[in-house]
Amino acid sequence: MCGIIGYIGSRNAVDVLIEGLKRLEYRGYDSAGIAIIDNETGDVVRIRSVGKIKTLSEKLIGMNLSGNIGIGHTRWATHGPPTEENAHPHTSGPFTVVHNGIVENYAELKEWLINQGYSFESETDTEVLVKLAEYYSKNELLDERQAIMKALKDVKGSYAAVFLAKSDSRKLYGCKHESPLVAGISDDGVYVASDVPALLPFTRKIMYLEDGDFIELTPDGVQVFDLNGNAVQRRFEVVDMNPVAAEKGGFRHFMQKEIYEQPRALSDTIKPYLSMENYKVFLPNAAYLSDVISAITKIFFIACGTSFHAAMVGKYVFESFLNIPVEVDLASEFRYRVPVIDDKSLVIAISQSGETADTKSALSFAKSFGAHTCSIVNVVGSSLTRLSDAVVYTHAGPEIGVASTKAFVTQLAALILLGLFSYGILKDDKEDVYSYLAESLLQLPSVCEEVLRRSDSLRNWVHEISVAKSCLYLGRNILYPIALEGALKLKEISYIHAEGYAAGEMKHGPIALIDESMPVICLVQRGILAEKMRSNIEEVVARGGNVFVLADEAIKDSGFSESLAKKVIWLPSVHEFLSPIVFAIPLQLLAYYVAVERGTDVDQPRNLAKSVTVE
Ligand code: G6P
Repeated sequence: MCGIIGYIGSRNAVDVLIEGLKRLEYRGYDSAGIAIIDNETGDVVRIRSVGKIKTLSEKLIGMNLSGNIGIGHTRWATHGPPTEENAHPHTSGPFTVVHNGIVENYAELKEWLINQGYSFESETDTEVLVKLAEYYSKNELLDERQAIMKALKDVKGSYAAVFLAKSDSRKLYGCKHESPLVAGISDDGVYVASDVPALLPFTRKIMYLEDGDFIELTPDGVQVFDLNGNAVQRRFEVVDMNPVAAEKGGFRHFMQKEIYEQPRALSDTIKPYLSMENYKVFLPNAAYLSDVISAITKIFFIACGTSFHAAMVGKYVFESFLNIPVEVDLASEFRYRVPVIDDKSLVIAISQSGETADTKSALSFAKSFGAHTCSIVNVVGSSLTRLSDAVVYTHAGPEIGVASTKAFVTQLAALILLGLFSYGILKDDKEDVYSYLAESLLQLPSVCEEVLRRSDSLRNWVHEISVAKSCLYLGRNILYPIALEGALKLKEISYIHAEGYAAGEMKHGPIALIDESMPVICLVQRGILAEKMRSNIEEVVARGGNVFVLADEAIKDSGFSESLAKKVIWLPSVHEFLSPIVFAIPLQLLAYYVAVERGTDVDQPRNLAKSVTVE
């Protein structure tokens, strides 16, 4: 994980690096640092601190550092705890580096370097990178570029790294292998960073780099090579991203803003793909997808975290709507089992960031069996989109809060769109079921506005839940993944232990946990399982559990017992496939209110990162 940035140009590099790092903090925030070449002395000045970028900027106040070339890093610890010694940049002789990724063979390289007389100041894997570059420059008399390239050839694992060299060349060097890196250019200079939003305050002219690219940055431009020094052609393109979308816009937290943005995010995701006139679905790569969907015998969904819960919903939708066998896998597990997969399989990866290492690896693994691939991704141009044969973008806009909200509901909408598209190819009798779902999807953004209005009553639940040590979330069928997601949201941002359970499984173990101190949040949908769910709830009530209910208003008349009725919030009744979205929104808000009540760091919860680029 981690976020990296580099700058060379006419502005004060310190300001550029700090501004960029603030936008990269979602990638990790346990320590941070910058290094610049000081304009007065010509020396490399390195400032690092434990904690967030705010702590680093406070440390910089009064130092009056000025330089026009520098690199910066925000860290999510992998090798070595978050200490100042382990914070990047790391330095050796004339080279200083920031790195995102993992040097898998670092132990072996470290031992070799120690035998050559080097000593190490940190426990990180990164330090071997910079020491190797120094070694090759000193002992094999290679120039800067060649020394760094040779060091990179020794490395196994993943990296995006930016090197600063203290020399007359006044250049930065960047490289990418399995971790993201983009370059940017403006009249004020040249930039390199882990992602586009970090560069949006400075430029929208972006160059997406590919694995194996090595770049040399001067104040005037970027040259791209492969690791053997051969020139590679890449071009700058103007990206269509709005920097204001990444601001809080009057909300107290990004997560809160992102929850309230969901009707807009859904509308932006649904409308470009679904015609209001004839309900036809227009997807990019339609011809390819259409051929694939007509030929496949099985679908696999792979994803991590919240995106995995979207994948679980996808299984319910695709199996019942399309009658295609579907498997759902955690990406981190998928490639360590022996899936029965071939060129008649379609593997659909779901990811907000498009950079999750496990998801990327799982997709590559699937490709090695000849499977067709498609990804549902929010970040345009991210690694996963480049790996996949087809892409369906969610248009949630930048999601900054670490706990995923608007990305999740738009993933669900994209799954329905893909379901409708596939239905159009596989089934003849389009009329009723198809039109009902398409029409319901088009109405969904306004239904979600209503859900947000009704969710205000959740505030009455907050105190009881915020003092609990543990909570249970129960759902059945298509709402079971939403019970998991509700529990995940609460864990992530309020640090209260929570479990999601399929309500029918309660009696096989978890019911032993029920007592008066245990809040149990129950999700009740209309349909064949409503009665069964009600029985499951009564079982909890009978054992003294403190039950809170979110229920489909269509079953209002059949009611709950009087004691329970006080703790029911009725939600708009929608198409079964859309109910996961309608139920997810209040659960996001509930977790948010509880976290605020407990005073936790809502947008940047401890130990987490938004984009997990290590396996
Ligand atoms: C991290 C984030 C989660 C996210 C998961 C998968 O753990 O904290 O919010 O769901 O990664 O990320 P992706 O970008 O692949 O959806």
